[in-house]
Amino acid sequence: MPEIACVNGEFMPLEQATVSVEDRGYQFADAVYEVIRTYRGRPFAVEEHLARLFRSLDAIHLKHSYQAEWLKSLIAEAIQRAGFAETLVYLQISRGVAPRHRRIPDHYTPTLVMTAREMHDTTDFCQRGVSVITVPDNRWGRCDIKTVALLPNVLAYRTAREAGAHDAIFVGENSAIYEATAANVFIVRKGELHTPPEGPKILSGITRGKILRAARAVNIHATERPIPRSELLAADEAFLCSTTAEVVPIVAVDGQTIGRGPLAERIYQKFLDMFTT
Ligand code: PDD
Repeated sequence: MPEIACVNGEFMPLEQATVSVEDRGYQFADAVYEVIRTYRGRPFAVEEHLARLFRSLDAIHLKHSYQAEWLKSLIAEAIQRAGFAETLVYLQISRGVAPRHRRIPDHYTPTLVMTAREMHDTTDFCQRGVSVITVPDNRWGRCDIKTVALLPNVLAYRTAREAGAHDAIFVGENSAIYEATAANVFIVRKGELHTPPEGPKILSGITRGKILRAARAVNIHATERPIPRSELLAADEAFLCSTTAEVVPIVAVDGQTIGRGPLAERIYQKFLDMFTT
């Protein structure tokens, strides 16, 4: 089965897709993106992903004429052309091609790039759990915008792997935990669920929103509030969640073991029942 790319509406095999070296996404990370997966072959939460994409475009003042319906049909076509059992769609919009200068051009044509690749099963991670380290948050002040400027995330992930851990969780100067390098974080304490609040320090994950709803649907009290690192270390359970990872238990933080318990699994099962069937 082929991996598919789409550049400005034109489909082609992934290896044939190119963009200009003067694309502002390439030179300035002047671009935003979404990662959308399928369940049972259907794109998951596509309305929410596109709403967040439009919010990101607005937040970086990227003028465009994309319509949600057109983007939805493009996503559907990519999934259908690729023909995988489950697909992972990456969609990126940059401020287009222009001679390299920090000034935003008066006129530009955005570059839309999409890829469709096979979505691999993450059950193994979900069952085994992952260890994480905490790292100082050295990212910019608008982590709520889903931009491609992910170098701090790339380097934090590398630091985690070098330390023998699976991922890193960014911690602020105030000791508050924010999120992992590509996932949101939850803790369970005394039968209640807690996650850091929306704001400039986290990306408001689509999965995060669904997990909160799933928890409340099974009568688990769920709050969004600042969480100090010490509470993560003392958590009864903790987990990461994202489009690609779904729900992955955290089994150790900075070398300290975190217990496994029933709540993460219960919430995950409810999430699957409520949203993916
Ligand atoms: N990233 N926080 C960060 C920094 C992320 O990059 C992501 C997802 C999330 C979770 O968001 P969602 O539930 O909407 O996937 C939180 C995608 C998967 C990525 O960059 O590959």
